[in-house]
Amino acid sequence: MRGEPAMAALDDRALRGLVESDRVHRDFYTSPAVFELEMERIFGRAWLIVGHASQVPEPGDFVTATLCRHPVIMSRHADGEVHLMFNRCAHRGAQVCTEPRGNARRFECPYHGWVYETDGRHAGAPYPKRYASGFLKGGEFDLAKVPRMAVYRGFVFGCLSADGPGLDEFLGPMKSHIDAMVDRAPDGEVEACAGTFRYRFGANWKIQMENQNDLYHPMFTHASTTARDGTQFRRHGAEDDEAGRVRLLKENEALNEQWEELAIGGHRYGHTYMERFPMDRGQSGPVHERYRAAMEASYGERAAEAMAVKHHNSIFYPQWSIQYLTQHIRVMNPVSVDCTENVIIPLKLKGAPEEMWRAALRSNNNSHSPSGMVMSDDMEVWIRCQRGLASPGREWVVFARGMNEERIDNAGSFEGRGTSEANARHQHAAWLDYMCGEA
Ligand code: FES
Ligand SMILES: [Fe+2]
Repeated sequence: MRGEPAMAALDDRALRGLVESDRVHRDFYTSPAVFELEMERIFGRAWLIVGHASQVPEPGDFVTATLCRHPVIMSRHADGEVHLMFNRCAHRGAQVCTEPRGNARRFECPYHGWVYETDGRHAGAPYPKRYASGFLKGGEFDLAKVPRMAVYRGFVFGCLSADGPGLDEFLGPMKSHIDAMVDRAPDGEVEACAGTFRYRFGANWKIQMENQNDLYHPMFTHASTTARDGTQFRRHGAEDDEAGRVRLLKENEALNEQWEELAIGGHRYGHTYMERFPMDRGQSGPVHERYRAAMEASYGERAAEAMAVKHHNSIFYPQWSIQYLTQHIRVMNPVSVDCTENVIIPLKLKGAPEEMWRAALRSNNNSHSPSGMVMSDDMEVWIRCQRGLASPGREWVVFARGMNEERIDNAGSFEGRGTSEANARHQHAAWLDYMCGEA
């Protein structure tokens, strides 16, 4: 009989007691103390995505976002540079800006009117004579910068720790997953020009993390949205729209057998992925031909390789993912131990036919909006998990499926297949590394 973890003191021994090779304790999802430590040791150390530089194309453009529960502002200054600052007035701490996005000549705090340039420099305070001479000078009252910021192919990241691996090392082989999305654009760039979906659900952040590469659940959780022939969304007219056709699986084959064939895997720092679904490979039609021509004009012989959809979901632990089928990224912000905020950012493939973009937006509306059919299926089961895990009587959550079948290398990567729970186990191992100070 394996022992129960001692939750009284959250030392390394207690934390290690929550995660075993094939199961995790329910406190992993329900303990507020564990959650607080996660914010410090995981979200306080990892590189977190803020958004995409194309959300702020012009000088003065800004978006507000959340990094590990901290409000931040991403803005483009007059010099064209993107800046990432804490959204906290240097006077008495008020959030300076609460609009989701906009364009500002300067940021003005609503409390006493202190003003900041769009690169965060303090630009002045009303009635300055009552401050001692020189008090407001010298940069001491600028908006504080997030300790580290880096950009990869337009995606903007922040890190709350001044130390630790750089973005390049943190992403490692997962950079190719970003490339796989961006290289599908004839212009070699993606653009976040459709706004965002933003919603919350009542479950711990890790339940969603484990779910996104879970091939064991679709035929049950999503039974109502996938027809027997593999067509997703039982919606009238979908098949009449070439660019909007969404087919998940090959026709006339058992769904579960197709899931079992898919490659899954992961890399260092807890990142995981799954291969693309075996959709119809031979896409055709006038829109697709225009897309192919644009890609060939840009990429020449590399066009076919660049056009290929290589993955379905790629998860960048602990906070975001790329979904290739509907062309979006999902930013997953923990709010509390039993609440998570999702931000869905659709991405346009620049230079591709406009019909493809409109189809991608329709697909996002159908699947990943707050009322999207796929998303609401998933949120329902995540909330049920959180509720069930709050109950005593059974302390452990099982992740034994496909145990020891995966191939692991010395660099922290692994490869597996199908409905194995290897991806969740890989995330759990990364969790231990972060939480016990080894990441
Ligand atoms: S709190 Fe911002 S000006 Fe006073
Ligand atoms: Fe799902």
